[in-house]
Amino acid sequence: MKQLFKNKQSRYDYRQIFLDFNRSLYTIKEKTSLISSIVTRIYELVQAKNIYILWQNQDTTRYVLMNPQEETSRESYILSDDGLIKWLQLNEKPLTVSFLPEYANIFSENDRKTVTSLNCLLICPLKTNNQLRGVIFMGEKEDKKAYGPKDMEILSVLLDNTALAIENISYNEERLAHLKRMMQTDRLSVIGQLAAGAAHEIRNPLTSIKSAIQYIQGDINDPKKQKIIHSTLSEVNRINEILAGLLSFSRQNNPVKREFDLTAMIEQTLRFIRNTQLKKQIRFVVRPVDLPLPVAADRDQLKQVIINILLNAIEAIRQDGIIGIEIQSSIMEGTAYYHIIVTDNGTGIHEDQLEKIFDPFYTTKEEGTGLGLSISYGIIHSHGGNIEIRNHPDGGTQVEIRLPKGIPNS
Ligand SMILES: Nc1ncnc2c1ncn2[C@@H]1O[C@H](COP(=O)(O)OP(=O)(O)O)[C@@H](O)[C@H]1O
Ligand SMILES: [Mg+2]
Repeated sequence: MKQLFKNKQSRYDYRQIFLDFNRSLYTIKEKTSLISSIVTRIYELVQAKNIYILWQNQDTTRYVLMNPQEETSRESYILSDDGLIKWLQLNEKPLTVSFLPEYANIFSENDRKTVTSLNCLLICPLKTNNQLRGVIFMGEKEDKKAYGPKDMEILSVLLDNTALAIENISYNEERLAHLKRMMQTDRLSVIGQLAAGAAHEIRNPLTSIKSAIQYIQGDINDPKKQKIIHSTLSEVNRINEILAGLLSFSRQNNPVKREFDLTAMIEQTLRFIRNTQLKKQIRFVVRPVDLPLPVAADRDQLKQVIINILLNAIEAIRQDGIIGIEIQSSIMEGTAYYHIIVTDNGTGIHEDQLEKIFDPFYTTKEEGTGLGLSISYGIIHSHGGNIEIRNHPDGGTQVEIRLPKGIPNS
Protein backbone atom coordinates (compact mmCIF):
# COMPACT_ATOMS: atom_id res chain seq x y z
CA MET A 1 0.00 0.00 0.00
CA LYS A 2 2.75 2.41 0.96
CA GLN A 3 4.14 3.17 -2.46
CA LEU A 4 0.66 3.65 -3.81
CA PHE A 5 0.07 7.00 -2.29
CA LYS A 6 2.61 9.63 -2.97
CA ASN A 7 1.30 12.65 -1.15
CA LYS A 8 -0.13 12.94 2.30
CA GLN A 9 -3.50 14.23 1.20
CA SER A 10 -4.35 11.33 -1.10
CA ARG A 11 -2.96 8.78 1.32
CA TYR A 12 -5.41 10.06 3.91
CA ASP A 13 -8.30 10.01 1.41
CA TYR A 14 -7.65 6.47 0.26
CA ARG A 15 -7.18 5.17 3.77
CA GLN A 16 -10.42 6.79 4.84
CA ILE A 17 -12.28 5.33 1.89
CA PHE A 18 -10.92 1.83 2.54
CA LEU A 19 -11.63 2.14 6.23
CA ASP A 20 -15.22 3.25 5.63
CA PHE A 21 -15.67 0.53 3.09
CA ASN A 22 -14.33 -2.22 5.34
CA ARG A 23 -16.53 -1.07 8.18
CA SER A 24 -19.61 -1.05 5.99
CA LEU A 25 -18.83 -4.53 4.66
CA TYR A 26 -19.64 -6.13 8.00
CA THR A 27 -23.12 -4.68 7.97
CA ILE A 28 -23.98 -5.55 4.38
CA LYS A 29 -26.20 -8.62 4.28
CA GLU A 30 -27.67 -8.28 0.91
CA LYS A 31 -26.39 -8.46 -2.65
CA THR A 32 -27.86 -5.23 -3.99
CA SER A 33 -26.40 -3.14 -1.13
CA LEU A 34 -22.99 -4.71 -1.68
CA ILE A 35 -23.18 -3.99 -5.37
CA SER A 36 -24.10 -0.35 -4.88
CA SER A 37 -21.39 0.00 -2.26
CA ILE A 38 -18.74 -1.44 -4.60
CA VAL A 39 -19.90 0.84 -7.41
CA THR A 40 -19.64 3.93 -5.17
CA ARG A 41 -16.16 3.01 -3.88
CA ILE A 42 -14.81 2.29 -7.33
CA TYR A 43 -16.02 5.69 -8.46
CA GLU A 44 -14.41 7.37 -5.44
CA LEU A 45 -11.11 5.54 -5.86
CA VAL A 46 -10.46 5.46 -9.60
CA GLN A 47 -13.20 7.75 -10.95
CA ALA A 48 -14.46 5.14 -13.37
CA LYS A 49 -17.66 5.96 -15.20
CA ASN A 50 -20.21 3.35 -16.33
CA ILE A 51 -19.61 0.65 -13.75
CA TYR A 52 -21.62 -2.51 -14.31
CA ILE A 53 -21.70 -5.61 -12.17
CA LEU A 54 -22.69 -9.04 -13.39
CA TRP A 55 -23.44 -11.56 -10.65
CA GLN A 56 -23.55 -15.32 -10.86
CA ASN A 57 -27.05 -16.76 -10.67
CA GLN A 58 -27.00 -19.72 -8.25
CA ASP A 59 -29.39 -21.81 -10.31
CA THR A 60 -28.20 -21.27 -13.84
CA THR A 61 -24.52 -20.47 -12.97
CA ARG A 62 -24.62 -17.73 -15.61
CA TYR A 63 -23.63 -14.14 -14.92
CA VAL A 64 -26.45 -11.62 -15.12
CA LEU A 65 -26.30 -7.82 -15.08
CA MET A 66 -27.37 -6.57 -11.64
CA ASN A 67 -27.37 -2.80 -11.95
CA PRO A 68 -29.05 -2.11 -15.26
CA GLN A 69 -29.25 1.54 -16.19
CA GLU A 70 -31.85 3.19 -18.35
CA GLU A 71 -30.34 2.26 -21.66
CA THR A 72 -29.58 -1.36 -20.74
CA SER A 73 -31.93 -4.16 -19.94
CA ARG A 74 -31.01 -7.00 -17.65
CA GLU A 75 -31.79 -9.91 -19.95
CA SER A 76 -29.56 -8.82 -22.76
CA TYR A 77 -26.38 -9.01 -20.68
CA ILE A 78 -25.68 -12.54 -19.65
CA LEU A 79 -22.30 -14.20 -19.76
CA SER A 80 -21.98 -17.96 -20.02
CA ASP A 81 -19.39 -20.27 -18.68
CA ASP A 82 -16.91 -19.91 -21.55
CA GLY A 83 -14.64 -17.26 -23.10
CA LEU A 84 -14.16 -14.31 -20.77
CA ILE A 85 -15.56 -16.10 -17.70
CA LYS A 86 -13.16 -18.99 -18.16
CA TRP A 87 -10.24 -16.57 -18.51
CA LEU A 88 -11.17 -14.70 -15.31
CA GLN A 89 -11.59 -17.97 -13.43
CA LEU A 90 -8.12 -19.08 -14.46
CA ASN A 91 -6.23 -15.79 -14.17
CA GLU A 92 -8.01 -14.14 -11.24
CA LYS A 93 -6.84 -10.66 -12.21
CA PRO A 94 -8.18 -7.57 -13.96
CA LEU A 95 -8.20 -7.55 -17.73
CA THR A 96 -7.78 -4.49 -19.91
CA VAL A 97 -10.16 -4.76 -22.84
CA SER A 98 -8.60 -5.10 -26.23
CA PHE A 99 -9.75 -6.89 -29.33
CA LEU A 100 -6.26 -7.34 -30.77
CA PRO A 101 -5.72 -10.77 -32.38
CA GLU A 102 -3.85 -12.08 -29.33
CA TYR A 103 -7.02 -11.56 -27.27
CA ALA A 104 -9.17 -13.50 -29.72
CA ASN A 105 -9.27 -16.59 -27.50
CA ILE A 106 -10.49 -14.68 -24.48
CA PHE A 107 -13.68 -13.16 -25.87
CA SER A 108 -16.51 -15.21 -27.29
CA GLU A 109 -18.87 -13.56 -29.77
CA ASN A 110 -21.38 -12.88 -26.97
CA ASP A 111 -18.66 -11.49 -24.64
CA ARG A 112 -17.50 -9.15 -27.35
CA LYS A 113 -21.04 -7.86 -27.90
CA THR A 114 -21.60 -7.36 -24.16
CA VAL A 115 -18.23 -5.65 -23.60
CA THR A 116 -18.72 -3.33 -26.56
CA SER A 117 -22.28 -2.32 -25.79
CA LEU A 118 -21.46 -1.56 -22.15
CA ASN A 119 -18.50 0.59 -23.32
CA CYS A 120 -16.20 -1.39 -21.10
CA LEU A 121 -12.44 -0.74 -20.87
CA LEU A 122 -11.47 -2.75 -17.78
CA ILE A 123 -12.86 -6.01 -16.41
CA CYS A 124 -12.32 -7.18 -12.80
CA PRO A 125 -13.20 -10.53 -11.25
CA LEU A 126 -15.14 -10.70 -7.95
CA LYS A 127 -14.14 -13.93 -6.31
CA THR A 128 -14.23 -15.89 -3.07
CA ASN A 129 -13.17 -19.43 -2.22
CA ASN A 130 -11.78 -19.93 -5.72
CA GLN A 131 -15.19 -19.22 -7.15
CA LEU A 132 -15.90 -16.41 -9.54
CA ARG A 133 -19.05 -14.87 -8.05
CA GLY A 134 -19.22 -11.80 -10.21
CA VAL A 135 -17.60 -9.59 -12.82
CA ILE A 136 -17.17 -5.82 -12.79
CA PHE A 137 -17.14 -3.87 -16.04
CA MET A 138 -15.68 -0.39 -15.94
CA GLY A 139 -15.94 2.29 -18.59
CA GLU A 140 -13.80 5.31 -19.26
CA LYS A 141 -12.30 7.29 -16.35
CA GLU A 142 -13.50 10.84 -15.63
CA ASP A 143 -10.12 12.21 -16.79
CA LYS A 144 -10.25 9.99 -19.90
CA LYS A 145 -6.78 8.59 -19.10
CA ALA A 146 -6.02 4.89 -19.48
CA TYR A 147 -6.10 2.66 -16.38
CA GLY A 148 -2.57 2.52 -15.00
CA PRO A 149 -0.74 0.21 -12.56
CA LYS A 150 -1.78 2.41 -9.64
CA ASP A 151 -5.48 2.00 -10.50
CA MET A 152 -4.95 -1.74 -10.75
CA GLU A 153 -3.38 -1.95 -7.32
CA ILE A 154 -6.08 0.13 -5.68
CA LEU A 155 -8.74 -2.03 -7.31
CA SER A 156 -7.11 -5.27 -6.27
CA VAL A 157 -6.93 -4.14 -2.62
CA LEU A 158 -10.57 -3.08 -2.79
CA LEU A 159 -11.67 -6.36 -4.33
CA ASP A 160 -9.68 -8.47 -1.88
CA ASN A 161 -11.60 -6.71 0.87
CA THR A 162 -14.95 -7.60 -0.64
CA ALA A 163 -14.27 -11.37 -0.59
CA LEU A 164 -15.59 -11.82 2.93
CA ALA A 165 -18.74 -9.83 2.29
CA ILE A 166 -19.43 -11.82 -0.88
CA GLU A 167 -18.98 -15.04 1.06
CA ASN A 168 -21.43 -13.90 3.74
CA ILE A 169 -23.98 -12.92 1.17
CA SER A 170 -23.66 -16.18 -0.78
CA TYR A 171 -24.08 -18.10 2.46
CA ASN A 172 -27.19 -16.07 3.31
CA GLU A 173 -28.62 -16.60 -0.15
CA GLU A 174 -28.15 -20.35 0.04
CA ARG A 175 -29.73 -20.49 3.49
CA LEU A 176 -32.70 -18.43 2.37
CA ALA A 177 -33.23 -20.62 -0.69
CA HIS A 178 -33.11 -23.70 1.53
CA LEU A 179 -35.60 -22.19 3.96
CA LYS A 180 -37.90 -21.24 1.12
CA ARG A 181 -37.80 -24.80 -0.23
CA MET A 182 -38.59 -26.19 3.22
CA MET A 183 -41.50 -23.80 3.72
CA GLN A 184 -42.85 -24.64 0.29
CA THR A 185 -42.74 -28.37 1.03
CA ASP A 186 -44.37 -27.88 4.42
CA ARG A 187 -47.10 -25.66 3.11
CA LEU A 188 -47.77 -28.12 0.30
CA SER A 189 -48.01 -31.11 2.53
CA VAL A 190 -50.40 -29.42 5.00
CA ILE A 191 -52.68 -27.98 2.32
CA GLY A 192 -52.34 -31.17 0.31
CA GLN A 193 -53.42 -33.44 3.14
CA LEU A 194 -56.39 -31.22 4.00
CA ALA A 195 -57.44 -31.05 0.38
CA ALA A 196 -57.09 -34.79 -0.14
CA GLY A 197 -59.18 -35.45 2.98
CA ALA A 198 -61.94 -33.14 1.76
CA ALA A 199 -61.81 -34.65 -1.72
CA HIS A 200 -62.33 -38.08 -0.28
CA GLU A 201 -65.44 -36.94 1.58
CA ILE A 202 -66.93 -35.21 -1.47
CA ARG A 203 -66.33 -38.08 -3.84
CA ASN A 204 -68.86 -40.50 -2.38
CA PRO A 205 -71.94 -38.25 -2.39
CA LEU A 206 -70.89 -36.99 -5.82
CA THR A 207 -70.91 -40.53 -7.17
CA SER A 208 -74.49 -40.94 -5.87
CA ILE A 209 -75.52 -37.66 -7.52
CA LYS A 210 -74.00 -38.74 -10.79
CA SER A 211 -75.73 -42.11 -10.89
CA ALA A 212 -79.06 -40.52 -9.89
CA ILE A 213 -78.83 -38.04 -12.77
CA GLN A 214 -77.87 -40.81 -15.19
CA TYR A 215 -80.85 -42.85 -13.97
CA ILE A 216 -83.30 -39.98 -14.58
CA GLN A 217 -81.71 -39.15 -17.93
CA GLY A 218 -83.23 -42.27 -19.50
CA ASP A 219 -86.81 -41.17 -18.66
CA ILE A 220 -86.66 -37.68 -20.07
CA ASN A 221 -87.64 -36.94 -23.63
CA ASP A 222 -88.01 -33.18 -23.56
CA PRO A 223 -84.90 -31.89 -25.47
CA LYS A 224 -84.68 -28.76 -23.27
CA LYS A 225 -84.53 -30.85 -20.10
CA GLN A 226 -82.11 -33.28 -21.77
CA LYS A 227 -79.79 -30.35 -22.41
CA ILE A 228 -79.91 -29.31 -18.75
CA ILE A 229 -79.16 -32.86 -17.64
CA HIS A 230 -76.30 -33.06 -20.12
CA SER A 231 -74.63 -29.90 -18.87
CA THR A 232 -75.17 -30.91 -15.22
CA LEU A 233 -73.38 -34.19 -15.95
CA SER A 234 -70.46 -32.43 -17.54
CA GLU A 235 -70.16 -30.15 -14.49
CA VAL A 236 -70.16 -33.25 -12.27
CA ASN A 237 -67.37 -34.69 -14.41
CA ARG A 238 -65.38 -31.50 -13.98
CA ILE A 239 -65.74 -31.71 -10.19
CA ASN A 240 -64.56 -35.30 -10.42
CA GLU A 241 -61.46 -34.22 -12.33
CA ILE A 242 -60.62 -31.63 -9.68
CA LEU A 243 -61.10 -34.23 -6.96
CA ALA A 244 -58.81 -36.66 -8.77
CA GLY A 245 -56.16 -33.94 -8.78
CA LEU A 246 -56.62 -33.30 -5.06
CA LEU A 247 -56.46 -36.98 -4.24
CA SER A 248 -53.14 -37.37 -5.95
CA PHE A 249 -51.68 -35.21 -3.15
CA SER A 250 -52.16 -38.02 -0.68
CA ARG A 251 -50.70 -40.58 -3.06
CA GLN A 252 -47.68 -38.64 -4.17
CA ASN A 253 -45.74 -39.20 -0.98
CA ASN A 254 -44.88 -42.79 -1.64
CA PRO A 255 -43.46 -43.29 -5.10
CA VAL A 256 -43.21 -46.92 -6.19
CA LYS A 257 -39.86 -47.00 -7.93
CA ARG A 258 -39.20 -49.36 -10.82
CA GLU A 259 -36.67 -49.21 -13.60
CA PHE A 260 -37.91 -47.96 -16.98
CA ASP A 261 -36.76 -46.01 -20.02
CA LEU A 262 -37.31 -42.27 -19.67
CA THR A 263 -37.11 -41.65 -23.43
CA ALA A 264 -39.83 -44.20 -24.17
CA MET A 265 -42.06 -42.77 -21.44
CA ILE A 266 -41.69 -39.25 -22.81
CA GLU A 267 -42.36 -40.42 -26.38
CA GLN A 268 -45.46 -42.25 -25.21
CA THR A 269 -46.70 -39.19 -23.31
CA LEU A 270 -46.16 -37.04 -26.39
CA ARG A 271 -48.19 -39.46 -28.52
CA PHE A 272 -50.99 -39.28 -25.94
CA ILE A 273 -50.90 -35.49 -25.94
CA ARG A 274 -50.81 -35.24 -29.74
CA ASN A 275 -53.83 -37.52 -30.02
CA THR A 276 -55.98 -36.02 -27.32
CA GLN A 277 -55.06 -32.43 -26.58
CA LEU A 278 -53.76 -30.72 -29.61
CA LYS A 279 -55.80 -28.08 -31.38
CA LYS A 280 -52.87 -25.75 -32.02
CA GLN A 281 -49.95 -25.97 -34.44
CA ILE A 282 -47.18 -27.08 -32.11
CA ARG A 283 -43.89 -28.70 -33.01
CA PHE A 284 -42.22 -30.87 -30.37
CA VAL A 285 -38.45 -31.18 -30.49
CA VAL A 286 -36.98 -33.93 -28.31
CA ARG A 287 -33.25 -34.31 -27.66
CA PRO A 288 -31.58 -36.76 -27.59
CA VAL A 289 -33.66 -38.90 -29.94
CA ASP A 290 -33.96 -42.68 -29.61
CA LEU A 291 -31.37 -43.02 -26.86
CA PRO A 292 -32.57 -45.24 -24.01
CA LEU A 293 -32.20 -43.44 -20.67
CA PRO A 294 -32.73 -45.85 -17.78
CA VAL A 295 -34.21 -44.46 -14.56
CA ALA A 296 -35.66 -45.97 -11.38
CA ALA A 297 -38.75 -43.97 -10.41
CA ASP A 298 -42.53 -44.09 -10.19
CA ARG A 299 -43.44 -44.20 -13.87
CA ASP A 300 -47.09 -43.15 -13.50
CA GLN A 301 -46.27 -40.24 -11.24
CA LEU A 302 -43.53 -38.99 -13.55
CA LYS A 303 -45.82 -39.31 -16.51
CA GLN A 304 -48.31 -37.13 -14.70
CA VAL A 305 -45.61 -34.50 -14.12
CA ILE A 306 -44.61 -34.50 -17.80
CA ILE A 307 -48.27 -34.20 -18.85
CA ASN A 308 -48.87 -31.28 -16.44
CA ILE A 309 -45.84 -29.42 -17.72
CA LEU A 310 -46.55 -30.05 -21.38
CA LEU A 311 -50.18 -28.98 -20.95
CA ASN A 312 -49.05 -25.75 -19.30
CA ALA A 313 -46.64 -25.15 -22.18
CA ILE A 314 -49.38 -25.83 -24.75
CA GLU A 315 -51.80 -23.56 -22.91
CA ALA A 316 -49.20 -20.77 -22.82
CA ILE A 317 -48.72 -20.89 -26.58
CA ARG A 318 -51.26 -18.72 -28.38
CA GLN A 319 -51.47 -20.34 -31.79
CA ASP A 320 -48.30 -21.77 -33.27
CA GLY A 321 -45.28 -22.70 -31.27
CA ILE A 322 -42.38 -24.94 -30.42
CA ILE A 323 -41.92 -27.01 -27.30
CA GLY A 324 -38.45 -28.40 -26.70
CA ILE A 325 -37.75 -31.32 -24.41
CA GLU A 326 -34.10 -31.84 -23.67
CA ILE A 327 -32.60 -34.40 -21.34
CA GLN A 328 -29.13 -33.90 -19.91
CA SER A 329 -27.14 -35.84 -17.31
CA SER A 330 -25.05 -34.63 -14.42
CA ILE A 331 -23.38 -35.90 -11.28
CA MET A 332 -23.61 -33.83 -8.10
CA GLU A 333 -22.02 -34.89 -4.84
CA GLY A 334 -21.85 -38.49 -6.01
CA THR A 335 -25.49 -38.70 -7.19
CA ALA A 336 -26.33 -39.09 -10.87
CA TYR A 337 -29.21 -36.94 -12.15
CA TYR A 338 -31.25 -36.40 -15.28
CA HIS A 339 -32.22 -32.85 -16.11
CA ILE A 340 -35.44 -32.76 -18.08
CA ILE A 341 -35.67 -29.29 -19.56
CA VAL A 342 -38.94 -28.26 -21.20
CA THR A 343 -38.86 -24.97 -23.07
CA ASP A 344 -41.84 -23.27 -24.70
CA ASN A 345 -42.19 -20.05 -26.65
CA GLY A 346 -45.46 -19.06 -25.01
CA THR A 347 -46.47 -16.07 -22.92
CA GLY A 348 -43.85 -16.50 -20.19
CA ILE A 349 -44.66 -15.86 -16.54
CA HIS A 350 -44.88 -12.44 -14.96
CA GLU A 351 -42.10 -11.87 -12.38
CA ASP A 352 -44.67 -11.26 -9.58
CA GLN A 353 -46.35 -14.58 -10.33
CA LEU A 354 -43.21 -16.73 -10.33
CA GLU A 355 -43.32 -16.99 -6.54
CA LYS A 356 -46.87 -18.31 -6.46
CA ILE A 357 -47.08 -20.76 -9.32
CA PHE A 358 -46.29 -23.78 -7.12
CA ASP A 359 -49.02 -22.90 -4.61
CA PRO A 360 -52.01 -25.24 -4.71
CA PHE A 361 -55.01 -23.59 -6.41
CA TYR A 362 -52.95 -20.74 -7.82
CA THR A 363 -54.07 -20.29 -11.41
CA THR A 364 -54.26 -17.50 -13.95
CA LYS A 365 -56.59 -19.49 -16.21
CA GLU A 366 -60.37 -19.32 -16.31
CA GLU A 367 -60.66 -23.08 -16.46
CA GLY A 368 -57.53 -23.84 -14.43
CA THR A 369 -57.37 -25.81 -11.19
CA GLY A 370 -53.99 -24.49 -10.08
CA LEU A 371 -52.98 -28.00 -9.07
CA GLY A 372 -50.71 -29.14 -11.93
CA LEU A 373 -47.52 -27.56 -10.67
CA SER A 374 -48.06 -28.12 -6.96
CA ILE A 375 -48.69 -31.82 -7.58
CA SER A 376 -45.64 -32.00 -9.85
CA TYR A 377 -43.56 -30.25 -7.19
CA GLY A 378 -44.62 -32.83 -4.59
CA ILE A 379 -43.91 -35.77 -6.89
CA ILE A 380 -40.45 -34.58 -7.93
CA HIS A 381 -39.44 -33.75 -4.35
CA SER A 382 -40.61 -37.11 -3.06
CA HIS A 383 -38.22 -38.60 -5.64
CA GLY A 384 -35.36 -36.59 -4.14
CA GLY A 385 -35.32 -34.19 -7.09
CA ASN A 386 -36.09 -30.57 -7.74
CA ILE A 387 -38.22 -28.56 -10.16
CA GLU A 388 -37.61 -24.98 -11.19
CA ILE A 389 -39.40 -22.64 -13.53
CA ARG A 390 -37.93 -19.54 -15.07
CA ASN A 391 -38.56 -17.22 -17.94
CA HIS A 392 -36.37 -17.96 -20.91
CA PRO A 393 -34.15 -15.02 -21.93
CA ASP A 394 -35.55 -15.27 -25.49
CA GLY A 395 -39.17 -15.28 -24.26
CA GLY A 396 -41.39 -18.14 -23.14
CA THR A 397 -40.86 -20.37 -20.17
CA GLN A 398 -38.34 -23.00 -19.17
CA VAL A 399 -39.07 -25.78 -16.69
CA GLU A 400 -36.15 -27.78 -15.37
CA ILE A 401 -36.68 -31.03 -13.50
CA ARG A 402 -33.68 -32.53 -11.75
CA LEU A 403 -34.37 -36.19 -11.09
CA PRO A 404 -32.03 -38.72 -9.47
CA LYS A 405 -31.37 -41.58 -11.89
CA GLY A 406 -31.82 -43.96 -8.98
CA ILE A 407 -29.70 -46.64 -10.64
CA PRO A 408 -26.31 -47.55 -9.17
CA ASN A 409 -23.29 -46.76 -11.36
CA SER A 410 -25.32 -45.00 -14.02
N1 LIG B 1 -45.27 -22.86 -19.40
C1 LIG B 1 -45.94 -21.87 -18.79
N2 LIG B 1 -46.04 -20.66 -19.38
C2 LIG B 1 -46.71 -19.65 -18.78
N3 LIG B 1 -47.31 -19.75 -17.56
C3 LIG B 1 -47.23 -20.92 -16.92
C4 LIG B 1 -46.55 -22.05 -17.49
N4 LIG B 1 -46.62 -23.07 -16.60
C5 LIG B 1 -47.33 -22.62 -15.54
N5 LIG B 1 -47.71 -21.33 -15.73
C6 LIG B 1 -48.47 -20.49 -14.77
O1 LIG B 1 -48.57 -21.19 -13.53
C7 LIG B 1 -49.93 -21.30 -13.13
C8 LIG B 1 -50.15 -22.59 -12.33
O2 LIG B 1 -50.01 -23.72 -13.17
P1 LIG B 1 -50.70 -25.09 -12.76
O3 LIG B 1 -50.33 -25.40 -11.35
O4 LIG B 1 -50.39 -26.11 -13.78
O5 LIG B 1 -52.25 -24.73 -12.77
P2 LIG B 1 -53.21 -24.44 -14.01
O6 LIG B 1 -52.52 -24.91 -15.25
O7 LIG B 1 -54.44 -25.21 -13.69
O8 LIG B 1 -53.45 -22.97 -13.98
C9 LIG B 1 -50.70 -21.19 -14.42
O9 LIG B 1 -52.03 -20.75 -14.21
C10 LIG B 1 -49.88 -20.21 -15.23
O10 LIG B 1 -50.17 -18.88 -14.85
MG1 LIG C 1 -51.60 -26.74 -15.42
